[in-house]
Amino acid sequence: MKKINLIVAVCENGGIGIKGDLPWMLKKELKYFSRMTKKVKNPSKRNAVIMGRKTYFGVPETKRPLPGRLNIVLTRNPNAHSYPSNVVACCSLQEALSEIDKSEEIENVWIVGGSAVYEEAMHSDRCHRIYLTEIKKIFECDTFFPVIPSTFKVIENDDDVPYEVQEEEGLMYQYKIYEKVE
Ligand SMILES: NC(=O)c1ccc[n+]([C@@H]2O[C@H](COP(=O)([O-])OP(=O)(O)OC[C@H]3O[C@@H](n4cnc5c(N)ncnc54)[C@H](OP(=O)(O)O)[C@@H]3O)[C@@H](O)[C@H]2O)c1
Repeated sequence: MKKINLIVAVCENGGIGIKGDLPWMLKKELKYFSRMTKKVKNPSKRNAVIMGRKTYFGVPETKRPLPGRLNIVLTRNPNAHSYPSNVVACCSLQEALSEIDKSEEIENVWIVGGSAVYEEAMHSDRCHRIYLTEIKKIFECDTFFPVIPSTFKVIENDDDVPYEVQEEEGLMYQYKIYEKVE
C-alpha cells in the first residue's frame, strides 16, 4: 500500500481558501506545488492528486484537470457534475486509495485539499508527510486547515524544498515538512 502525503499553503490564521478560491496569488508557490506533485523517480510512472469536489472546480477551467497527474475527485454524488474522461470521481478516500493500489502506474499519492479531505488524510495510517507552506500574513478566509496532530514533527527540508524564506508580491512565506513519528 502506498503512503500518502499532503501539500497545502496556509496563512497565519490557519486559512487556506475563500469563496472557492485561494486567498492569495503566488505564482512561484503554485510552481512549487506543481513541481512537487509531478515529481517521480520512475519516468514511466506518474503521481495521483486527490481532491475534494470544490477544490477541483476551484481550479480555473483551462487548468483542470491538473496536467501530468491522475486527478481523483472526491464527491458523494459523482453524477451531480460532469467530469472529463481522464478524471476519476470517487465516493470516498478509501475508494480512491483502493483504485490507486490496483494501478501499477502511480508512484506517489498527493492529497491536495480541501479541509475535510486533509483532515481525513492526516489521520490515516497511510499518511507520511505534510508539505506545508507557511504564508506569513493574515488573510480573510472561509476555509481552514485542520489542527495537525501532535504525532507530526517538523523535519529538515530535503533538497527539493528550499529552506530560505521566500518573497513574492511583497509576501513572505516558508516551506516546511511535517513527518509522522511512528
Ligand atoms: N491553500 C491551499 O493549499 C488549498 C488547497 C486546496 C483547496 N484550497 C481552497 O479550499 C477551498 C475548497 O475546500 P473545501 O474544504 O471548501 O472543499 P473540498 O474539500 O475541496 O470539497 C468538498 C466536497 O468534496 C467532497 N468530499 C469531501 N470529502 C469527501 C469524502 N471523504 N468522500 C466523498 N466526498 C468528499 C464533497 O463533495 P460533494 O458535495 O460533491 O459530495 C464535499 O462537498 C477553496 O477555497 C480552495 O481554493 C486551498
